[in-house]
Amino acid sequence: MAGRNDAGAGAVPPRHIAIIMDGNGRWATKRNLPRTAGHKVGAETFRKIAYYCKDIGIRYLTVYAFSTENWKRSVEEVNVIMRLLERYLYELMELMARDHFRIRFFGDLTGLPPSLEKLARRTYEVSGALPQDYCLVNLCINYGGRDEILRAARRYAADCAKGTQTPENLDDALFSSYLDSAGIPDPELIIRPSGELRLSNFLLWQCAYSEFYFTDTLWPDFTTDEIDRAIAAYAQRNRRFGGVKESK
Ligand code: FPP
Repeated sequence: MAGRNDAGAGAVPPRHIAIIMDGNGRWATKRNLPRTAGHKVGAETFRKIAYYCKDIGIRYLTVYAFSTENWKRSVEEVNVIMRLLERYLYELMELMARDHFRIRFFGDLTGLPPSLEKLARRTYEVSGALPQDYCLVNLCINYGGRDEILRAARRYAADCAKGTQTPENLDDALFSSYLDSAGIPDPELIIRPSGELRLSNFLLWQCAYSEFYFTDTLWPDFTTDEIDRAIAAYAQRNRRFGGVKESK
């Protein structure tokens, strides 16, 4: 298993890949379609990529589906994304035992439409009974990296006030256990399609030593070949984690 001190660990395939599914709107606009058409195709791309990642042995796949900032979009667009999430969650709920997936959520579920919140909690509950070696898909919904850190800090402060923790106890590992990603290794590889070169509030804590792969491909056009290219690029990286460069 790759650890923080393994210089050159890029040669080990990633266990955890995270993806910012960006470019749906531009994909649709380029075709004179409503932005929502891009989200519909983007959701299919998600399905294809999730199965591929599972098939090639990726243990954890984290996808950014809806950010804490995405509520600024039109009500129509938000509703379409919420309905898509609901539809695909129903499907995953039906298929996850058969197809060896587990589902978890990063983000503040309390901000979601009640039916989606209920479904998400139920899916998570059902996932809990499935074998731990099934591929874990983390859906980031109503998720923001800063919001995740703030929610974790509030819970830690509340535990300090209750007397079950002390401020002095807090270290990297303990704080990680208060995050939505508790118990999940940090992503070794973060992929952002669509040509944008930024993180947009994604996994701000967890990305400390992630390798990044950017591509101009818009998410609805994203293929399994792109995953292979990202992993091949990752394999060339010299991961030093603040240590000394190893010659390759
Ligand atoms: C970013 O593209 C994409 C979103 C904000 C929504 C992503 C949602 C889906 C792919 C559908 C549902 C997901 C699942 C997991 C079933 P953008 O709209 O910001 O594109 P743009 O930058 O071109 O405008």
